Amino acid sequence: MCGIIAYLGLQDAVPILIDGLRRLEYRGYDSAGIAVQVDGITQCVRAIGPLSALQKKLSTIELAGNTGIGHTRWATHGSVTEANTHPQQSNDKKISIVHNGVIENFQSIREFLSVQGFQFQSETDTETLANLISYHYSKELESPTQDRFLESVRKALLHVRGTYGIAVLCSDRPNEIIGARNSSPLVLGMGKDEFFISSDVCSFAQHTRDVVYLHDNELVHITGDHFKLITLDREAVEAVRHEVDWDTASAELNGYPHFMLKEIFEQPQAIENALRGRISGDLSSAHFGGLQMTDEELHKINRIILCACGTAWCACLVAEYIIEKFARIPVEVEYASEFRYRNAPLDQQTLIIVISQSGETIDTLAAMREAQQRGLRVLAITNVVGSTIAREADGGIYQHSGPEIGVASTKAFTSQICISILLALHLGRLRDLSFDDGIEIVEALKKLPEQVESILLQSERIRSIAMRYKDCSDMLFLGRQSMFPIALEGALKLKEISYVHAEGYPAAEIKHGPMALITPQCPIFFLACDDHVLEKIQSNMHEVQARGARVIVVAQENSAIHANAANDIIFVPQGHSAVNPILATIPLQLFAYHMGVLRGHNVDRPRHLAKSVTVE
Ligand code: AGP
Repeated sequence: MCGIIAYLGLQDAVPILIDGLRRLEYRGYDSAGIAVQVDGITQCVRAIGPLSALQKKLSTIELAGNTGIGHTRWATHGSVTEANTHPQQSNDKKISIVHNGVIENFQSIREFLSVQGFQFQSETDTETLANLISYHYSKELESPTQDRFLESVRKALLHVRGTYGIAVLCSDRPNEIIGARNSSPLVLGMGKDEFFISSDVCSFAQHTRDVVYLHDNELVHITGDHFKLITLDREAVEAVRHEVDWDTASAELNGYPHFMLKEIFEQPQAIENALRGRISGDLSSAHFGGLQMTDEELHKINRIILCACGTAWCACLVAEYIIEKFARIPVEVEYASEFRYRNAPLDQQTLIIVISQSGETIDTLAAMREAQQRGLRVLAITNVVGSTIAREADGGIYQHSGPEIGVASTKAFTSQICISILLALHLGRLRDLSFDDGIEIVEALKKLPEQVESILLQSERIRSIAMRYKDCSDMLFLGRQSMFPIALEGALKLKEISYVHAEGYPAAEIKHGPMALITPQCPIFFLACDDHVLEKIQSNMHEVQARGARVIVVAQENSAIHANAANDIIFVPQGHSAVNPILATIPLQLFAYHMGVLRGHNVDRPRHLAKSVTVE
């Protein structure tokens, strides 16, 4: 939702904070700011708009120091104004704070502080926290046994209900930073004579890969050249260090105009990474190292519930078709935000699987915790190693897609489907899926990277198709069976990148209402990559064309769909039914990308969105 970074070391903090914020902008980009300790005061510089606006402001200011904090914002409390931009400071400017999360009881705290004489310059919950810390700091006395700054932060957080990942400075305490987390990610980086605190390793990985992930209700206190971890209850915490093996270069554009296009083109590699080391020796099945479930336990599963949000939820819908078809296990798909409150009837033979690229989506995290609260096992399919969902799940499968920086999820989506196919294969081969059928699926998976490469070569042609539709304001996406979730995903990609109103439906549903939307200004995408319902799709195409609709079709090479059957046709390789959803997705990703660029939008940071939604 927001990105925070803090630095303490021997270097000038400003360039490090700015570079870190640039790498965190995928988390939110409504406004940005930094605060740096200089000669006993904390100087704060903030600007609305993208990071470049802050950099422009800084170019006119002399600001240098070796301890500082920074923030890039996705607005939750309060509109996009400079006053609401972080860092937020206490009335006396002693306390400066950056915050990712939402404090749910901030109004009551604000009222309490107002009675104490505090005034507020912003609408944010974060300023309330800064003043609450200041209140405790003014009450706290230094003592040999407890640190006044740390105690004031700790006591303030004991009053807080909600989510936070914070970094705090106190102008009385140069060369000190306090960090704390509850539900919002926070990681400590330890370099040579320097420390980092951030929402995401990517913000400082070029400086150090030696990290400690904070858990909920933990605080870290950096003082000069050392740090300590405690809980909110003041219990000491042993630091568990990790070596991040992630190539920061992969978080760079490497010559692409946008991260979204780079990540679309990285899909062949991402698919190979998802498959690597997971095909069984006899090439008829799959295996995983992290399920933490025996085959006997998996054999007892008689129901699977898949939970996720957004594109990951679309991946769940594809997984439903695949797992039911190849493993013959009943599958239900739930929006995570609904599942957590629905009180669904569950029993011990139900397996919950959550899918989340970031591993930090709070609705998905809450759904997982609700299932665990009710005694069920939860597996997680995630991309970010060490993410909260990855760490709290009972077992899981990493995607190994590499960092996905563009807000629109592309390579993570197709990777999630790949892993779902592998999981269906593993579960199926424990049940009735034959050796020959298993061999066929594995062969299809092995061909997939090359087939995706061949579709990517059509990017310029798809751009020319997008040119013809760039001014439309509405669009429908239709598909049947496992193409229906791809229709939903295609609509989601288009709406979040090009701001065109787009909806996905099962193709047959068009007759039950959406048909009324059809005009020549409302083009319709048909996903015709499923042979056994192809004739039905062709009928649907005729129905809408009879009413003046322009039609774009994604069809398989050598398909019965003729080149003149639609206004535009994009052919994809003939694939196994298990992988056809992936093949049909690639043209839709490219179409959405080109539409967004042609309509002049920032496709990596579309308006109002963020890469990881860590508020409910
Ligand atoms: C998809 O393009 C969006 N960025 C969004 O729907 C995303 O898929 C959703 O927020 C879930 O994110 P997650 O996979 O990190 O949990």
